[in-house]
Amino acid sequence: MTSHPTAPPPAHRPVVVSVPERQDDPSTTPMHADSLPVSVTSPVGAIDEYLRRVVEEAGLAPSLTAAILYSLLGPGKRARPLLAWHSFAAVAGQSADSASCLPAAAAVELVHAFSLVHDDLPGLDNDDLRRGRATLHRHTSVAMAVLAGDSMLTLAFQAIAQRTPAALAGPLCAELAVATNAMITGQVYDTLGGLDPALSPRQRLEVIHRHKTGALIRVSCRVGAMCALHRIGARADDADPRLAAITRYAEAAGLMFQIVDDLLDVTQTTEHLGKRTGKDQDAGKLTYPGVMGVEDSRAEVARLHEASIAALAPLGPAAEPLRQLASFMAVRTK
Ligand code: IPE
Ligand code: IPE
Ligand code: MG
Ligand code: MG
Ligand code: MG
Repeated sequence: MTSHPTAPPPAHRPVVVSVPERQDDPSTTPMHADSLPVSVTSPVGAIDEYLRRVVEEAGLAPSLTAAILYSLLGPGKRARPLLAWHSFAAVAGQSADSASCLPAAAAVELVHAFSLVHDDLPGLDNDDLRRGRATLHRHTSVAMAVLAGDSMLTLAFQAIAQRTPAALAGPLCAELAVATNAMITGQVYDTLGGLDPALSPRQRLEVIHRHKTGALIRVSCRVGAMCALHRIGARADDADPRLAAITRYAEAAGLMFQIVDDLLDVTQTTEHLGKRTGKDQDAGKLTYPGVMGVEDSRAEVARLHEASIAALAPLGPAAEPLRQLASFMAVRTK
């Protein structure tokens, strides 16, 4: 599909889009931009199976379960649960049982999926395409998309509360709540404005991106590290050098992630990306390429990529999957 449909599709009929295998430009992608080593992606099967269980065991209305599973298990990258999983391993050691961080990993993907469903609604970005398929409100209805988002947000906290040890559940829920509200604050600034006009466009941009996207990437890594510290009998204290290293990594990678998202909106095709491109400028969004240009935005990505790798130095070889994830997130084409 190369243009917007002239009329909305009938309810319950997905918009069908063919997504080509890959379309990255080798001159601008030093790392293979769509492939990660299996050592990094191997947890995806366990993560998806766990997400399905969390949803199916919640006793929801069948139509709500179907709507949630459509969005949650669609073909996304699962970057946030992978960050949680590999942050766990970076702190607890590669041989530790990473499955114990699955509730936290599932929770961050549930919040992310909720944020995407609501981000796509007519009152926000008004998108009809997500992950190469109809957005949930086009696949079902606006009412169902609002309610499925509400339910995914709630299920995130339910998963942690019901499936992690009591001593860990409170701190994890508190971290995730703060990060989710930071994401929503970022969405408010991005969609409705309201930032201090004394800030420069560049300063406003950084505030928006660190909130709307950075906060969830940051908490994804931190909850993985907190599960690991609990596992090895250590306190999840910000003074802990392992948690501090993971947090510095995540803050750089989180801002980088949204700069790359802005770049993809102006450099990729809708077919390749699986979501509409060229929309940010039309919608008057404040973006890195819009404020700094494409070349300076790429330089900022390179700087943040280096900062994320440098932050991991204290964690040694156990953090190798996190290094590979950061390198992938810097050069990804979708
Ligand atoms: C898209 O996130 C929205 C942003 C916060 C930039 P992702 O690029 O991680 O989307 P999926 O999960 O892979 O579809
Ligand atoms: C979304 O940012 C951030 C969220 C909190 C979902 P965008 O609006 O740029 O994300 P896409 O491009 O629609 O995935
Ligand atoms: Mg948006
Ligand atoms: Mg959007
Ligand atoms: Mg975007």
